[in-house]
Amino acid sequence: MTRIRAMTSDDLAAVSRLLGQSWRRTYAPIMGDETVARLSAERHAPEKLAAELEDEDKMSFVAEDADGSITGYAMAMMDTKGDVMLERLHVEPRAFGSGLAVDLLHAVLAAHAGIPSIALEVIEGNDRAIAFYRKHGFEVVERREASHGVGGHASLIMRHMLPMA
Ligand SMILES: CC(C)(COP(=O)(O)OP(=O)(O)OC[C@H]1O[C@@H](n2cnc3c(N)ncnc32)[C@H](O)[C@@H]1OP(=O)(O)O)[C@@H](O)C(=O)NCCC(=O)NCCS
Repeated sequence: MTRIRAMTSDDLAAVSRLLGQSWRRTYAPIMGDETVARLSAERHAPEKLAAELEDEDKMSFVAEDADGSITGYAMAMMDTKGDVMLERLHVEPRAFGSGLAVDLLHAVLAAHAGIPSIALEVIEGNDRAIAFYRKHGFEVVERREASHGVGGHASLIMRHMLPMA
């Protein structure tokens, strides 16, 4: 049995590891080992994730297996205008296709009840993620140069309009 819950400081090491491995697996074929290693070191260290837990505009969730292992992670951020971005969504490959990713997505949406839409940025070429987001109601609204220091790559902005309460 897997449960989705808010991330705590006890999860920092496990989430840092999960993110590092997921980035390597997903993005090294697209942007190369060096870029992935640099970006991951800059962003996924436990102390960076700890600072995010303290940020009230960011909400982080984990999926925890019965044995306590962390098999998934999501983080969403609200900007100053109240627009919510799904910044990260990663599940362990053994959980691909299991519905865990959509459970995490639903946890993010439930925590932001009443928002009109949710958006995200996905690197072009991450076809599995793009297919997942399309399947769950996201549409491409923009194609642009990837942000966050991912130089030389295009990304897609996808947005999911939500039914108004
Ligand atoms: C993105 C992610 C969370 C999606 O979760 P998932 O459990 O793999 O998603 P699902 O299996 O439900 O959906 C993926 C779909 O893509 C399809 N797919 C797989 N590989 C594909 C490819 N190369 N091209 C197109 N579609 C592909 C699958 O068949 C599936 O569609 P289906 O259900 O109609 O068969 C997960 O794959 C993941 O953690 N990936 C690594 C991290 C990542 O890229 N995160 C997104 C960052 S923006």
